[in-house]
Amino acid sequence: MTQNVVVLGATGSIGSQTIEVATELGLEIVALAARSPSEAFAALARKHPAARVVAAGGSSEEREVFARAVGRPVEFGSDAVTDTARTADATVVNGIVGAAGLRATVAALETGNRVALANKESLVAGGPVVTDALAGGGELIPVDSEHSALFQCLVGEDPASVSRLILTASGGPFRGRTRESLAEVTPEQALAHPTWDMGRRISIDSATMFNKGLEVIEAHFLFHVDYERIAVVIHPQSILHSAVEYVDGSWKGHLGHPDMRIPIQYALTAPARAGSPVETFNLAGRSLTFEEPDREVFPALDLAYAAGERGGSSPAVLNAADEVAVEAFLQRRLGFLGIAEVVASTLEMVPWRQVATVDDVLDADREARETAASLIAGAC
Ligand SMILES: NC(=O)c1ccc[n+]([C@@H]2O[C@H](COP(=O)([O-])OP(=O)(O)OC[C@H]3O[C@@H](n4cnc5c(N)ncnc54)[C@H](OP(=O)(O)O)[C@@H]3O)[C@@H](O)[C@H]2O)c1
Repeated sequence: MTQNVVVLGATGSIGSQTIEVATELGLEIVALAARSPSEAFAALARKHPAARVVAAGGSSEEREVFARAVGRPVEFGSDAVTDTARTADATVVNGIVGAAGLRATVAALETGNRVALANKESLVAGGPVVTDALAGGGELIPVDSEHSALFQCLVGEDPASVSRLILTASGGPFRGRTRESLAEVTPEQALAHPTWDMGRRISIDSATMFNKGLEVIEAHFLFHVDYERIAVVIHPQSILHSAVEYVDGSWKGHLGHPDMRIPIQYALTAPARAGSPVETFNLAGRSLTFEEPDREVFPALDLAYAAGERGGSSPAVLNAADEVAVEAFLQRRLGFLGIAEVVASTLEMVPWRQVATVDDVLDADREARETAASLIAGAC
């Protein structure tokens, strides 16, 4: 385990839990990056006086106020965020939300660093590019609880003996609802996730089931398993984090508290394990239930499978259109059911292309954002 940790998305849900876990493990936080030069970020920077501090965004006034509040030299802009990922001999925890995390993932891998990847959008949008970057000697350890579970179930196994990957999904706050009843749901209702406390985009994506769709694509690129051998099952208690089925009919599953500090810690320490960051887990008294996802009510899942199968730019387009549609829903410019409609139309409208470089991915991302934004503007 390297002692140095770079935390990207430091002010977010993953970022703050990473800082807690890394501090408990006695690791050194060598860099902190976030988007906004906010007071909360400045306070975090003051708590870690040895860390390099980078904010991707902000106006010139906001940046000035931030630099004064931090009280030591700070850096600004996306290129500086990417540069922190090149810190020598560091584990880079990528907790940035959205395709904005791709450049940092690629830079860290090309430098030979370990990437503890929460930013699933890196793999969804840029799967082939991230896979190529692994040739730089870096290492990719998933943080997403389902993929951490699969990763751990696969340790020591021959890939040829894997029959299927089974991703579990809580079903989100609208499990069991009819399509009609979802037309008028509010952002507050959609943000109220039953088992996980997460950032805004992933919470809405869990309500639409786009999150599970993105995770299917993430699993395909992480574990090199065909889409028809990746299944999704609803498991409302979020105790079984995912499972692998082997050709002999055996299953290996990963269970425990639904608490992101566990997969974050494993991504920092793997293949070793450190003491649990949460209280002891007990199975007694719990009931675990499983059901098929409702693909009519939640069309996002099949949209993601189709985009994954099509490959090339399609997953990047799916992700970018969803990012734009989720933001519009949160701002009440688009209804809940409109999110999947905008993504489906954007996938039809943006021409398919191969993606071989980060720029190819970001071109497809930009075109999809423009298309989705104009579809939403036209619908308002
Ligand atoms: N939260 C979870 O439990 C969970 C579980 C599994 C996977 N994930 C994945 O982890 C990632 C982060 O999710 P989250 O829930 O932690 O999101 P979040 O709470 O919204 O935090 C996102 C973080 O990314 C920063 N950020 C956004 N754009 C950036 C940019 N261009 N450059 C640098 N930093 C940027 C934000 O900074 P500002 O605060 O300044 O905007 C914030 O620190 C997502 O990919 C999500 O799918 C999350």
